[in-house]
Amino acid sequence: MPAPPTSSVVGLVCPACGVGYRESATNPRCRCGSLLDLEVPPPSLTGAELRSRFEARLTGRDIADVSGVWRYRELVVPQIPDSPISYPEGNTPLIASDAIARWTGTDRLALKHEGQNPTGSFKDRGMTVGMTQAVRLGARGVTCASTGNTAASLAAYAAHAGLPALVLVPAGRVTPEKLAQSAAYGAQTVALRGDFDRCLELVEQAADRFGLYLLNSVNPYRIAGQQTIIFELLHQRRWDPPDWIVFPAGNLGNTTAFGRALVASHRAGLISRIPRLAAVQAEGAAPFAHSYAAGFTPLEPVVADTVASAIRIGNPASFDRAVRAIRATNGLVTTVTDREILEAKAVVDRAGVGCEAASAAAVAGVRRLRRESVIGDGDSVVAVLTGHLLKEPLAAATARDSRAVEIDGRLDEIEAILDR
Ligand code: F0G
Repeated sequence: MPAPPTSSVVGLVCPACGVGYRESATNPRCRCGSLLDLEVPPPSLTGAELRSRFEARLTGRDIADVSGVWRYRELVVPQIPDSPISYPEGNTPLIASDAIARWTGTDRLALKHEGQNPTGSFKDRGMTVGMTQAVRLGARGVTCASTGNTAASLAAYAAHAGLPALVLVPAGRVTPEKLAQSAAYGAQTVALRGDFDRCLELVEQAADRFGLYLLNSVNPYRIAGQQTIIFELLHQRRWDPPDWIVFPAGNLGNTTAFGRALVASHRAGLISRIPRLAAVQAEGAAPFAHSYAAGFTPLEPVVADTVASAIRIGNPASFDRAVRAIRATNGLVTTVTDREILEAKAVVDRAGVGCEAASAAAVAGVRRLRRESVIGDGDSVVAVLTGHLLKEPLAAATARDSRAVEIDGRLDEIEAILDR
């Protein structure tokens, strides 16, 4: 059950009815059913002062300065923890690749590679904040539903914090590599005969019933941490915003976090204009795109089907707040086919960058939007690669002529291969 509302707002606020809750509330939902937002008071520093503070932390040695999440702490949480549960995370590169840019038809493209986080996906940014909160609250255990990456991240951070972890995944639909991570880090994995959407429904009930702290992106602390993908990429660009930020969208946590981060950066005087968000869904898992195309009609869940297993989600939990994010950034939502996703993945992999299939949807989205002249000639674009190539090595290994050729060990065998 949600905690009783409080009139002196110190943290969590319902965006639908304005009711406030203590920042220590464990239920992510308001009494009205809406997901709560974590409110952070506007920083007392000017944009220029904040910028120089963040810059100075780049040479700091404290984990809170070294982490690409906690470096931006004034914009992340209302109460800054003494000792965050951190590896550290973040500090992911902005990669320029001529080959990928050429394929998309843009010439000012950079790839923010979130696959280079400690467990290989962007989830670590939200998890460091969420797990730190779990410890502050004295949680006895943590839980999530997942298409694989959240589970791997939760398992690692829970082990780091010394907390037991329970993860629910759709049976037979998560890559073995992601499952191996969760198991290795010691989380109890439960495979449910059903899809991700059913896993999330059940885990919300289980968290409530068994007193476990829920760490899906419905959790406002997860969203708070994921904002730092934006803060860090703006910082890397010396606070010169790109025209577009393009990313894959499933449960819509990132869409929500990115919208919040851009509005907060603008309000804080860090940037002078807000880039446009472009959320990309796989055609077979695109309830957000369908709603957008009809002028943001109410969510109609679908039974999701796509090769990009990370975003095989038909009933996105953060739908309402993602609509606000797209509106606040004059953004848009588009779709790409599985074929386009796999083509983009092959291009990203061959360029030496590499990513998992869901991430490649962002690159396929850039190409489609450029072809449709939505992304203009000369526009600057950052595409977010959300997960690492090794999350799905089988997809890569079965790609065209990438299989290993077995030999007995003679030089003439190598010569024959080179001659081909
Ligand atoms: N890309 C990757 C690699 C993901 O793992 C996910 C979500 C997304 C994109 C979509 O982000 O949900 O914020 O819109 N993965 C979740 C999981 C659902 O359980 O790992 P979103």
